[in-house]
Amino acid sequence: KNVGIIYGGYSSELVVSRKSAEGIRSFIDPSRYNVFSVLITDKKWVVTYDDQEIPIDKNDFTFIQDGERINFDCLYITIHGTPGEDGLLQGYLKMLGIPHTTSDVLPAALTFNKFTCNTYLKGFGVAVADSILLRKGREYNSEDIIGRIGIPCFVKPNAGGSSFGISKVKTPEELAPAFDKAFEESNEALVEGLMEGTEVTCGIYKTTEKEVVMPLTEVISKNEFFDFEAKYNAEKAIEITPARISDELTEKIQKITSLIYDILNCKGIVRVDYIITDKKIFMLEVNTTPGMTPTSFIPQQVEALGMTMQEVITDIIEDAIE
Ligand code: DAL
Ligand code: MG
Repeated sequence: KNVGIIYGGYSSELVVSRKSAEGIRSFIDPSRYNVFSVLITDKKWVVTYDDQEIPIDKNDFTFIQDGERINFDCLYITIHGTPGEDGLLQGYLKMLGIPHTTSDVLPAALTFNKFTCNTYLKGFGVAVADSILLRKGREYNSEDIIGRIGIPCFVKPNAGGSSFGISKVKTPEELAPAFDKAFEESNEALVEGLMEGTEVTCGIYKTTEKEVVMPLTEVISKNEFFDFEAKYNAEKAIEITPARISDELTEKIQKITSLIYDILNCKGIVRVDYIITDKKIFMLEVNTTPGMTPTSFIPQQVEALGMTMQEVITDIIEDAIE
């Protein structure tokens, strides 16, 4: 079976995607699948190997190798951000009838729009932060925003990941530059109140045969928040798996994660991030193409579970192909 790892993307998260693709390549069983790497950026769509780049035919997502046309049986998508996490690529592959490993169009599009996802999940009783959505180019009133959300607050791109474009705003004057920064990543920005508590994250996947809810990871950032530097610099954050919280709380969060997975009708590996405050468990966001670098949360949680990444990735590919 020919499996293509799709990486790259059109956003700042391309750098993370490259590392995730290396991770996925090391996790795929080479005795079971012919593995190819496919780079998709806003400039090119190419199969990459041995310093060569072979163009992908966008009509059918095939390519020519040594005079032979190669078709993919399955595509492992590990693009973070657009177009691999927001449903665009999923829609295109669905039109072509090629199986892929992530959530389909609707869950991908929904979860990649934080405001829409929060509003949707709130209807099912999931607790989320109070937030205000702002569109690029529209007028806003700083006093109203601060009056409702309070300060300090967070300004984030509404569609983005890896903490690109996020600011912690501590004074009213910092609001405007924070919006500018968020708008570099997304046409919409979200203002969210600061929640103090324990940050945890929970990986999950379901196939037709099994449900695997992973142990939680607790995240303690040494920076102001779990920003890009803290995410990808081991010295800037402490990550503890399993999280040092009670078994009851762990089970409760695992249940919420499983519920969210079903409500959204997700597929493949998903990771849901939370903050536990003294009052409640708040869902922060759902990631449908979570980071897969060897030090990312999912490999840590899989190890703590006593499984191997190779088993997990085989489950995901086989389920996608079925
Ligand atoms: N967006 C990053 C890759 C993550 O959620 O893991
Ligand atoms: Mg994310």
